[in-house]
Amino acid sequence: MKSFQEEILEGIPDYIPELPNFDLNINRAPKRRDILSPKEKVLAIKNALRYFRPETHNFWAKEFANELKEYGRIYMYRLRPKHPIYARPIYEYPAKSRQAAAIMLMIQNNLDFAVAQHPYELITYGGNGAVFQNWAQYRLTMKYLAEMTEDQTLVMYSGHPMGLFPSHPDAPRVVVTNGMMIPNYSSKELYEKYNALGVTQYGQMTAGSYMYIGPQGIVHGTTITLMNAERLRTGETLAGKVFVTSGLGGMSGAQAKASVIAGAVGIIAEINPKALLKRYEQGWLTEYYDDLDKLLLRAEKARQNKEAVSIGYLGNVVDLWEKVAKLDFVVELGSDQTSLHNPFSGGYYPVGLTFEQSNELMARNPEEFKKYVQDSLIRQVDAINQLADRGMYFWDYGNAFLLESKRAGANIMNGEKFKYPSYVENIMGPICFDYGFGPFRWVCTSGNPADLEKTDKIAQKVIEDMLTTCPTEIKQQLEDNLKWITEASKNKLVVGSQARILYADAEGRMRIAKAFNDAIAKGEISAPIVLGRDHHDVSGTDSPYRETANIYDGSQFTADMAVQNFVGDAFRGATWVSLHNGGGVGWGEVINGGFGLVIDGSPDSERRLKSMLFWDVNNGISRRSWARNQGAVNTIKRAMEKEPKLKVTIPYIANEAEIEKIIQELN
Ligand SMILES: NC(=O)c1ccc[n+]([C@@H]2O[C@H](COP(=O)([O-])OP(=O)(O)OC[C@H]3O[C@@H](n4cnc5c(N)ncnc54)[C@H](O)[C@@H]3O)[C@@H](O)[C@H]2O)c1
Repeated sequence: MKSFQEEILEGIPDYIPELPNFDLNINRAPKRRDILSPKEKVLAIKNALRYFRPETHNFWAKEFANELKEYGRIYMYRLRPKHPIYARPIYEYPAKSRQAAAIMLMIQNNLDFAVAQHPYELITYGGNGAVFQNWAQYRLTMKYLAEMTEDQTLVMYSGHPMGLFPSHPDAPRVVVTNGMMIPNYSSKELYEKYNALGVTQYGQMTAGSYMYIGPQGIVHGTTITLMNAERLRTGETLAGKVFVTSGLGGMSGAQAKASVIAGAVGIIAEINPKALLKRYEQGWLTEYYDDLDKLLLRAEKARQNKEAVSIGYLGNVVDLWEKVAKLDFVVELGSDQTSLHNPFSGGYYPVGLTFEQSNELMARNPEEFKKYVQDSLIRQVDAINQLADRGMYFWDYGNAFLLESKRAGANIMNGEKFKYPSYVENIMGPICFDYGFGPFRWVCTSGNPADLEKTDKIAQKVIEDMLTTCPTEIKQQLEDNLKWITEASKNKLVVGSQARILYADAEGRMRIAKAFNDAIAKGEISAPIVLGRDHHDVSGTDSPYRETANIYDGSQFTADMAVQNFVGDAFRGATWVSLHNGGGVGWGEVINGGFGLVIDGSPDSERRLKSMLFWDVNNGISRRSWARNQGAVNTIKRAMEKEPKLKVTIPYIANEAEIEKIIQELN
């Protein structure tokens, strides 16, 4: 058998490999819609054959025709490598460039069987968040990364490695774009078609950008959201308060852990037993029931005792909502994290059908399945409305719940506006993003937990220092983040790579990164660190119902910020950059971008991190400030005081009543 290194260097083999075994315990992507006409199927297969020598075409063509029929997509399962895929220590990768080796580590983490949602189909999370479209792309990309030098850049078109191009050491090693469409061709329907043709993919946020760090990535943000939701509702803590929601999948699984960390009684419905058991076995879900009466008795007891628990309901969330709405059961907080960015192809399981029936119907009769989904959303919203009338605070969790419910005809509108806010509109936007706080993260490429522990301590010390001089308006955030990082290792959040997330503002990110770089230089940390973030951040994402939902000057429907961010990161020192269509809320609904930056203790790393992180956060703050968000105006003014080379245009605030008078007089 070939070693891991040999298999990487081989790339796409010349011969036809044996079909690897499928482990039946691994979660599989649902069959995708058979959407192509016979003529388009020919094109899809012809496209796929571009990776193979002509003498093997006859064999592969039959195999791919079969995959299209069986799975709706061509995954090239036969090319799945024999080597186990996981984030190995950086020095194990066959590579000429250390930066490229770090990227290989990050790619492998995204496809680790313990991390990825549907690893056989190269899906990391969110139902369709792909790293690659097929296994040939994985093999070819890893080979290119192994061969590349520091004066080349690998160009990735939606999972397809277009190739290595000459560049220079200061350029990004990889530039990724996923799903970039001509705007008029960016509908969900067309996504299915072009994805099946093999010319585009849905990269989500951190899947196709190699920056997923398991559900931990979202636990911190979810904890912040939960704590601030109750602060908004009553100003109190979450002890003895009930939070009802759904989803124990890739990101949504974080709700279980966050409920416990935040001190609430979390009740989380999940229809897929595999997804629920994964979280239970991992210890994030403290217990589960498939009987609603038993579940509610247990939850009531937990409320009385002020226990911090996460109780799973193995079943449909609509049944859960309708049951609590019918009873006198008090629910303080509510949300939903089914994958409604992908409503009709497996993201949402409608009430009245079993999990298996849904999987069968969505492939066999998409129109009938769509009707089930929409009827289910109408029922779900009716139940949520009853609880909201009784005092529950409900928010959209960035999964397009409000949007899809509206499209389904549910009772979700108050005139022109949705009845409920998105979590960004009321919480993440005004409390975090406007001040620059976002999901900063790092990965210790040694794979050594001791390195991660050191980074936790370093970050903790930086925040403690910042708390001594910070302005009052960010004190609460810093205190929450200090608590988070102090307890992070106790909470056992690592799944996959030795990674940590920590919400931080521009100053915090730069100071923490510099302190890491110094520690690597002194040998206190044993190997380079990858810095990055979720795209779901201050500057990374233009998404009118999510990240930019608290922008009210009309520019929430523009995407200049995300594109500027991607380009600006690229020439300020990022190791790789990515720009995607659709992350989080769905194809055509958002443009999002991100970066990865490898620091190795050198002065060059220090130059890059200062320049790039400063831009990466302040770009978004300046845009939020121009949209008249007061927190952002204050924050960008402070940044200008500290950095004389920063000169941002500050808005003058007009008197709206005066303008209205002028308009009325004209009419
Ligand atoms: N966690 C966050 O902070 C966050 C932030 C932004 C967006 N989101 C969005 O949340 C959604 C979920 O993300 P994910 O990665 O967990 O996706 P996922 O597909 O891995 O998980 C969703 C889960 O919901 C379950 N489900 C679907 N319909 C159900 C139903 N009717 N009843 C019970 N369970 C049902 C599915 O079985 C699945 O396990 C996505 O749309 C994502 O973009 C999450």
